Amino acid sequence: MKGLILSGGKGTRMRPLTFTRAKQLIPIANKPNLFYGIEDVVGAGVSEIGIIISPDTGDEVKAAAGDGSRWGVRITYIMQHEPRGLAHAVLTARDFLGDDAFVMYLGDNILSGGIGHLVEEYQRGGAAAIVLLTPVPNPQQFGVAELNESGQVVRLVEKPKEPKSDLALVGVYLFGPQIHGIIDGLEPSWRGEYEITDAIQGLLDSGQGVIAHQVRGWWKDTGRPEDLLDANRLVLSHITADLQGEIVDSQVTGEVVIEPGARINRSTVRGPAHIAADAVIEDSYVGPYTSIGRGTAVHSSEVEYSIVLDGSEIRDLPTLLDASVIGQEVQLVGPGSAKRRKALTVALGDGSRVQL
Ligand code: G1P
Repeated sequence: MKGLILSGGKGTRMRPLTFTRAKQLIPIANKPNLFYGIEDVVGAGVSEIGIIISPDTGDEVKAAAGDGSRWGVRITYIMQHEPRGLAHAVLTARDFLGDDAFVMYLGDNILSGGIGHLVEEYQRGGAAAIVLLTPVPNPQQFGVAELNESGQVVRLVEKPKEPKSDLALVGVYLFGPQIHGIIDGLEPSWRGEYEITDAIQGLLDSGQGVIAHQVRGWWKDTGRPEDLLDANRLVLSHITADLQGEIVDSQVTGEVVIEPGARINRSTVRGPAHIAADAVIEDSYVGPYTSIGRGTAVHSSEVEYSIVLDGSEIRDLPTLLDASVIGQEVQLVGPGSAKRRKALTVALGDGSRVQL
């Protein structure tokens, strides 16, 4: 069994964060999204992993994940020159995959509970593919499965205008080598991509076994900033307190991780929250479901249900910062409580959204 993790794509729905970074490297609870996928694949006993990269962000992804030795596995990088779809990514990885079965994991997906049980099920035999499904409120934006009365998949359609069910295909798939023959005969979809959904439909059409399971815990495709915040919430709701930094004249309650070198001064931190190494929280309030990046400083401000990346500064905000995603090395400075004003001066990149 091999692993194929997809980390190409442009991440347009996640701008402005993705003007400067691969969307798969945006941190969730201070760990890159991509690493959750790698760890799931490694946790299922797979030791040879191919990562699909794109010319835009490939170097960054390579620098972040390295050769895999930190997880005790071997990572091979495979360049997909154009984003021509998930099935095209499999085609691009053909030499790496050989005739082995593989688990394919989209690098911007995050799933609770691991994938060990799926790999075991595949190894027991009988299926050319195993897919995961989960109900979603907006099936038009996903691959959608239609099941018969006994719960077997009968049809899969990519981004249907009129979905036959609310069951979305999750971006984690197990395939046997049979998929390659189907992909060889695939035509591009209306959006010009070689769809993995069409390839799985091809397996069904040729009478090969496709098993579908519903996700047991939770799953998130972190396509948009609000999904990122929700993924952060879900991951943080499973952490346990670990207070390693320095805490002075402060109240820290609930499940809070404070990494070494972080300092909490005259502040309240209410978990679940994750404060990375060398962050400083001073005269401030950090509320539930917040991640504060490495070296970020929060002074005289209130932050809740937000993600702040590394090296940023938040100071003297006149109001609660809520449900926000703040990039790396951002300065967000308010007038302070002494001079409460209605205006706030910010310097933000294209496509930024500020809600006060
Ligand atoms: C892709 C797949 C889709 C699946 C989704 C899960 O969509 O094409 O079938 O439901 O991932 O994240 P895309 O990210 O290309 O819009």
